[in-house]
Amino acid sequence: MTGDFVQTVRQVVEKLKGSYALAILAAQRPGEIVAVRQDSPLIIGLGQGEYFIASDISPLLDYTRQVIILEDGQLAHIASQGVKIQDRDGNEVAAKITPVLWDAEAVEKGGFQHFMLKEIMEQPAALRNTLGKYLQEGGISLPRVHLRPEELRAIDRICIVACGTAYHAGLTGKVLFESMLRIPVEIDLASEFRYRKPILDGNSLLIIISQSGETADTLAAMREGLRLGAKVLAICNVVDSTIAREAPNVIYTVAGPEIAVASTKAYTTQMAVLALLACYFSQVIKREEGVFLQLLQGLRELPNLADAFLASHAKTVEEIARLSLDWRDAFFIGRGLDWAIAQEGSLKLKEVSYIHSEAYAAGELKHGTLALIEEGVPVIGLVTQQQLVEKTVSNIWEAKSRGAAIYAITQFPQRLTDVADAIIPLPRLPDPLMPILAAIPTQLLAYYAAAARGLDVDKPRNLAKSVTVE
Ligand code: G6P
Repeated sequence: MTGDFVQTVRQVVEKLKGSYALAILAAQRPGEIVAVRQDSPLIIGLGQGEYFIASDISPLLDYTRQVIILEDGQLAHIASQGVKIQDRDGNEVAAKITPVLWDAEAVEKGGFQHFMLKEIMEQPAALRNTLGKYLQEGGISLPRVHLRPEELRAIDRICIVACGTAYHAGLTGKVLFESMLRIPVEIDLASEFRYRKPILDGNSLLIIISQSGETADTLAAMREGLRLGAKVLAICNVVDSTIAREAPNVIYTVAGPEIAVASTKAYTTQMAVLALLACYFSQVIKREEGVFLQLLQGLRELPNLADAFLASHAKTVEEIARLSLDWRDAFFIGRGLDWAIAQEGSLKLKEVSYIHSEAYAAGELKHGTLALIEEGVPVIGLVTQQQLVEKTVSNIWEAKSRGAAIYAITQFPQRLTDVADAIIPLPRLPDPLMPILAAIPTQLLAYYAAAARGLDVDKPRNLAKSVTVE
């Protein structure tokens, strides 16, 4: 060390490559910390006579509602006298203190055993808040989307990029955009997209989905899209997160803080925003206006229907989940949008309950997976798409006749009474919106299965809420 703590850190940081968020201590300077970041989030919480450093706002909420979101290249010197921020060139800059507006209740369990269950139950409110923000009497208003109508009309391809659960929300976006806008849509996992030399230009729209707005791969994918000149729009839950700050167009989901590692309310609000966006585009480019009006009406009804479903059927799911103590493997099957939900339902079950689970497009079962079906294997069949009911039911019979125990999540219960061991009936909405309702029982199933096993539902082993490394 040259004697000057801050100066020494600066000299070292200049030599670093890659992404990092560092909090550095020096034996000779007790009571001081120097924090730096590059491409990884670093948040400084300002408490009463104390400071905190974290990679996300959520863990700070018990201690403070005042944060400084450090930017790339900035350096923070934290000592008992206060926090001083320097820019890349060593000039002192004013610290921008951001108040966190999440209310206290949002970060407490509020009588629930786990955050995951609380967040599942909060979905009607999360949907109401998100849709209420953008869906007004006069139509859809997206204040942070700055794409002009002529730019929207010129878009000839859409790419949706995300990770994990957000990627599964994107799967529903693909189906919706293609069917409503007739524009080709590609969907990619961010970790794949960034290394596959994507083809994007000024007429491409890159939609980035991220609850945290900090996922390293997703952020890198977004930067790649910006570099290639694509129009970029981010769907984020965390206000002022890195992705939200860097994206030229943003739609926030208003789900409130999501504390449980397994995403639930962020996911359903992401799907609602994608449906809203599909309506917004189709209004501008004048496609499928009939569908668009029907969907808007459906979106207005959605929060109350989600409420009604939770009030009347959460118990049914809990009862089914009790049987899961004997499950070793599970299969989720569906077609079209139901396949998208099957993939998320399967992920949710494995990430919190550790039951091995796979999702299959129902028509694909017979190409291999059927070999795994034997007496008592649980198959969760998603049947919410009018056009595909007969086909999916016939695939469910294929599993049933090999001994599978069938649990159906459906808005057509009368079509499944013969084949299903138990039915979870869903309220009716236009088919394109059904995934948002159908997701809820899959989340409950995962939750109750994990809770029945006595697992640490909110913090599944080996997983993190916000993945800021590649
Ligand atoms: C982690 C979380 C998942 C989440 C994924 C993407 O793996 O455990 O729940 O879906 O990251 O996170 P993001 O914040 O980008 O939506």
